[in-house]
Amino acid sequence: MGRAAQWLSLAMGCTAAVTCAVAATLVARRAAAWCRWSRAVEVVRGFEEACATPTERLQRVVNSLAVEMFAGLASEGASKVRMLLTCIDALPNGSEEGIYYVIDLGGTSFRVMRLELGSGSMVINKKVEHQPIPEKLTKGTSEDLFDLIASALKNFIDREGGKDVGMTLGFTFSFPVRQASISSGSLIRWTKEFSIEETVGKDVAQCLNEALARNGVNLQVTALVNNAVGTLAMGHYYDEDTVAAVIIGAGTNASYIERSAAITKCQGLLTNSDLTVVNVEWGSFRPPQIPLTPYDICFNNYVKCNQYDQAFEKMISGVYLGEIARAVLQRMAQESDVFGTSVNCLSTPFIFSTPCLAAIREDDSPDLIVVSRVLKEHLKIQDVPLKTRRLVVRVCDIVTRRAARLAAAGIVAVLQKTGRDGTLCGTTKVRKIRGGEPKRSVVAIEGGLYQGYSVFREFLNEAVDEILGDEIASTVCLRLMEEGSGIGAALLAASYSSTRQNSA
Ligand code: BGC
Repeated sequence: MGRAAQWLSLAMGCTAAVTCAVAATLVARRAAAWCRWSRAVEVVRGFEEACATPTERLQRVVNSLAVEMFAGLASEGASKVRMLLTCIDALPNGSEEGIYYVIDLGGTSFRVMRLELGSGSMVINKKVEHQPIPEKLTKGTSEDLFDLIASALKNFIDREGGKDVGMTLGFTFSFPVRQASISSGSLIRWTKEFSIEETVGKDVAQCLNEALARNGVNLQVTALVNNAVGTLAMGHYYDEDTVAAVIIGAGTNASYIERSAAITKCQGLLTNSDLTVVNVEWGSFRPPQIPLTPYDICFNNYVKCNQYDQAFEKMISGVYLGEIARAVLQRMAQESDVFGTSVNCLSTPFIFSTPCLAAIREDDSPDLIVVSRVLKEHLKIQDVPLKTRRLVVRVCDIVTRRAARLAAAGIVAVLQKTGRDGTLCGTTKVRKIRGGEPKRSVVAIEGGLYQGYSVFREFLNEAVDEILGDEIASTVCLRLMEEGSGIGAALLAASYSSTRQNSA
């Protein structure tokens, strides 16, 4: 072999070696990238498995909640589900008339309302104003919070050119309250984003009355109602088959009409009617069949209010869903590089809101453009590849699906407690009723999450049908009651002020 040929073969050998090395590096990089991607997928897969809610598991959740509801009615403190008595033994029937003001407090904003009611279930006029509550007031003093509300009501009445004299005020207060009368009740504890310690144990109607007096408003609370109870009242006003109401918004809860005789914890209490409205407070239910994932409990580290408590609410409601998804995305970013390197925002608690989660899950564009935009605008994560965007959608889907299906189980549990689910209950052994016409049952639903998030609604409706079966499901109607919590408080203020006048 000549020298030239030797050089040539050496050069070819080197090139081949370099090519092999490059190829090996590429393969190694690909393998590493694949490995990191698989770890991200594994995080999602593990989360999905833990959040699974097959029908049979949901049925067991239904039975557990129904059992807790029985216990809650039997004696005070026997269950985590408080089953609070509302002192309401009659619901609006359409004959209510007059002008009413309402304060509706439940989330980080409150509503001031003026309603004119005409007989025959007619809301003749309605004026509503939303007022944000600065975050520091949700953790400040009782006086500051109630003064903010009272002065907003005063300005509202002034702007309306109205007079407050002789008007009746409904107060929707969407936190657990122990009531001894329709117009008073002491706060058991704050939930959601509120934590004003000094208010706990106080009569919140009185707190508002005092603030109204300080602000020169000549009104007093006539009806103090939970938002689930207000929604039930409005549902009943339009449809007498309404047996229960559910809130699915910032928080979650239910109320329903119970037979007074079934409330053993208050046997002997004077009541004018066979029926009593119960505020379930199901947010504190802890479904034993549903494991809490690390992402469900991570916020116990930084949200001190109701730490390790309100499990049902934390898996279902708007304050928390975005945060659960954020924790999963953060874990994916820690395990892999699927979001690139600029992922600092992902470690900020509550930066990813539930409306962001909903926007991502509802993105049906082929390239998931909305997903890109939300990740960029809210989490400052740029240029996320399509396959990663799909994984993000899957995370939001898992969080939504579990939440909606658990809420559905809650609804069926309330129906079971009222004997409207096609089973014979009254004992923990639930049997299917044979024969007999099942009654039509309406469940009134209010709350931004249910109202504004269509995928959530679909999952919930689907799960209710699945648990009940077609025959019974066809007798159950879930009915959206927009602004039910506020309007319902006006209706209750109306019926209870006329009851008072009539009995005076
Ligand atoms: C409160 C309930 C309320 C629900 C919905 C929960 O956190 O405990 O009283 O009805 O939120 O707003």
